[in-house]
Amino acid sequence: MPPVKDLVRIAALGDLHYSRNAAVGGLQPLFSQITESADILALCGDLTDYGLPEEARALAREMASSLKIPTVAVLGNHDYESGQQQELQKIFADAGVTTLDGDSTELLGIGFAGVKGFAGGFGRRALGPWGEDIIKKFVHEALDEALKLEASLARLRTDRLVVLLHYAPVQQTVEGEPLEIYPFLGCSRLEEPIGRFPVSAVFHGHAHHGRPEGLTAKGVPVYNVSLCLMRTVSPERPFRIVEFEVHPPAHECAPHASGERRVSGDRRSVERI
Ligand SMILES: [Fe+2]
Ligand SMILES: [Fe+2]
Repeated sequence: MPPVKDLVRIAALGDLHYSRNAAVGGLQPLFSQITESADILALCGDLTDYGLPEEARALAREMASSLKIPTVAVLGNHDYESGQQQELQKIFADAGVTTLDGDSTELLGIGFAGVKGFAGGFGRRALGPWGEDIIKKFVHEALDEALKLEASLARLRTDRLVVLLHYAPVQQTVEGEPLEIYPFLGCSRLEEPIGRFPVSAVFHGHAHHGRPEGLTAKGVPVYNVSLCLMRTVSPERPFRIVEFEVHPPAHECAPHASGERRVSGDRRSVERI
């Protein structure tokens, strides 16, 4: 196992939407830049465009040639499109990428819990499990994802906990999208387990035109790291970097980053937690 550092840099990015038509080598400059900038890469779903194994294999080849840091991921709804999500997980695992689906893993002293998540809306306007069976099943899908996330967080023993999702757990980071589709971009039921553990940060994708930053009700930073959004807010470095102090003094291990948070003045989105 690699030695634990005092300061660990996580690069986070989602929605690569790697397709059959992608230019071979097209992502290599991005992966090389990430390798130079961070210690760990967190991928937040929609890695492929149609969930096809051939897309995943081509993406894995690009990763193998230019990405040289540990990578942890969750899948997104696009990765489920062809019903071959398990095959995709295997392809990514063979490429050294840890894909979380209610699982957890520890890298460089940081604990990662991840699920895809699901839709359903936010706050008092969230869809409730009432009426037709199909509505109840829809709502229960989000509840099941939240339960999986809670179980994965409960297994971690690190001081630092990081949550990876594809769907958004808060409304703030989907704002900017058409109001009519907010309920399909995430669900505040995913926020509930995050509030029960000392989570330092949450990363998600899916809302390509949302906002880059938000907070849970308990103040945990939430980062929308959709590639489309990152290219807009930080074109020279189209991914989020968050630096985590590991092994902090006990009094700094409180929920949601009681330590210093700073944003660089060059809009390249470096924060320290
Ligand atoms: Fe996407
Ligand atoms: Fe998506």
